Amino acid sequence: MEILKVRELSKIYNEKIPYTALSNIDLSINKGEFVGIMGPSGSGKTTLLNLVSTIDQPTSGEVILEGQNPHQLQPDQLALFRRRELGFVFQSFNLLSTLTVKENILLPLTLDGTSIAEMHTRVEQVAGKLGIGDILGKRTFEISGGQAQRTAIARALIHKPKLVLADEPTGNLDSKAARDVMELLTVLNKEEQATMMLVTHDAMAASYCDRVVFIKDGQFHNEITCGDNREVFYQKIINVLSLLGGYRHDFSTVRV
Ligand SMILES: Nc1ncnc2c1ncn2[C@@H]1O[C@H](COP(=O)(O)OP(=O)(O)OP(=O)(O)O)[C@@H](O)[C@H]1O
Ligand SMILES: [Mg+2]
Repeated sequence: MEILKVRELSKIYNEKIPYTALSNIDLSINKGEFVGIMGPSGSGKTTLLNLVSTIDQPTSGEVILEGQNPHQLQPDQLALFRRRELGFVFQSFNLLSTLTVKENILLPLTLDGTSIAEMHTRVEQVAGKLGIGDILGKRTFEISGGQAQRTAIARALIHKPKLVLADEPTGNLDSKAARDVMELLTVLNKEEQATMMLVTHDAMAASYCDRVVFIKDGQFHNEITCGDNREVFYQKIINVLSLLGGYRHDFSTVRV
């Protein structure tokens, strides 16, 4: 069953000179699928996530999420829909610096009237899995970039969203921590049937996906599916990336 359908989606940013960031993207994601989005810097990945999550409006085309077009919802319905159904991990984390790590993680639940006991249990669980259980009382300016990233991930997952939209969730982590995060997302994906849409530059992270969609210059480039061998999939991803070009990473070190 389809949870997300994107049809002929285009985005033209209108600064002084119009710039086409995304053109005619078609994409369907099934419920429970784990999909990676890859492409060179500036290819339109964040733009695509912003259109799906309704942070930004498409110039043309449509987004259908769980059978409805979120861009056509009333503001209060949309706020509720986003809060209940979606989990976001932003490239910039978007943590609130006046709050502690724990308060940041709990934010989606406090808005929703979950009981204190339930909140406490969930925050302990998710923070434990992410290895940030001992910094819950710190403010966000007192923690490292990797810890901020894990806090942002915890906040995105705490309310068990149906669709998780993650922009570079492993970008600031070393390879061990990145692997832990990908394994956690995989567990969530399998156990809760949470659908994942994950933007990443990292082939290792992408190799945890069921399918990787490549975009280039705002257009669909191709997609590849993971068979039963993740190492083979990793190698296929590397091959597409090197064909795509414009890539700033060095692929000589195999990390799988
Ligand atoms: N608000 C904006 N106004 C004008 N142009 C924008 C805006 N946001 C993004 N762009 C441009 O649109 C293009 C796509 O940007 P986007 O952020 O989607 O790329 P990306 O694939 O996420 O790149 P990265 O991997 O570096 O995060 C870029 O050329 C960018 O400069
Ligand atoms: Mg981006």
